[in-house]
Amino acid sequence: MKTLIAANWKMHGNLDWVQKPAEFRALFPQNHDTIDILLCPPAHMLAPMTRAAAACNIAIGAQNCHDQVSGAFTGEMSAEMVAETGARYVILGHSERRALFGDTDAWIAAKTRAAQMAGLIPIICVGESQAQRAAGQAEEVVAEQLAKSIPTDADGDNLVIAYEPVWAIGTGLTPTIEDIAIIHDHIRGCLTTRFGAKTADKIQILYGGSVKPENAKAILALKDVAGALIGGAGLEMKSLAAIAAASEQA
Ligand code: PGA
Repeated sequence: MKTLIAANWKMHGNLDWVQKPAEFRALFPQNHDTIDILLCPPAHMLAPMTRAAAACNIAIGAQNCHDQVSGAFTGEMSAEMVAETGARYVILGHSERRALFGDTDAWIAAKTRAAQMAGLIPIICVGESQAQRAAGQAEEVVAEQLAKSIPTDADGDNLVIAYEPVWAIGTGLTPTIEDIAIIHDHIRGCLTTRFGAKTADKIQILYGGSVKPENAKAILALKDVAGALIGGAGLEMKSLAAIAAASEQA
């Protein structure tokens, strides 16, 4: 399975950042066959970024989309519109969207369906809060989010899952390597129940939450970790390239 190294830029950057794909390739020119690099910039950068990134063999993704094709939804962008920019992926159900912008499991499922219909690859984010982990509910929470956020008629061939414990995002904290392995194995089990082993085994499961060059190798060496969703460390191409290099060694 290919490794997906994905940077979620959140609400950072400006149009000068169209140089970042070239900057990244200058630092990490090799291994297009085993690693896919994905940059997810803010919406205003999507179209120019896809043009700049194509020459560098780097994919571009959005950070959200709406579930409707068009309509009176001020400030929103449909999956078709995202696809029209040339973007190939869309992050859905990031914990910041769930906490700050009212993304529910049901809405994420509708957005996922819209994204797949538009030909995008949705990256569905799941993960427990600190309190849920402390209460021993991490596996249960993740299973429920998966069950409800993946639409019933979803195409398992065109889907990425990101396990992002909420308490690890932007905090410098990460679960232990053993705990990451346990949840990823659990997610694989949930996907197998849902889609059957043949399809489930092809679904990339990313880890996200305080991934840095220093911890990337140990995390990416885990059997069921097929990549990383990176926030802070993905803003600098130097650290993103170091994470890609670590994934190569893993
Ligand atoms: P972080 O963010 O790498 O800064 O912890 C991860 C994310 O929000 O996807």
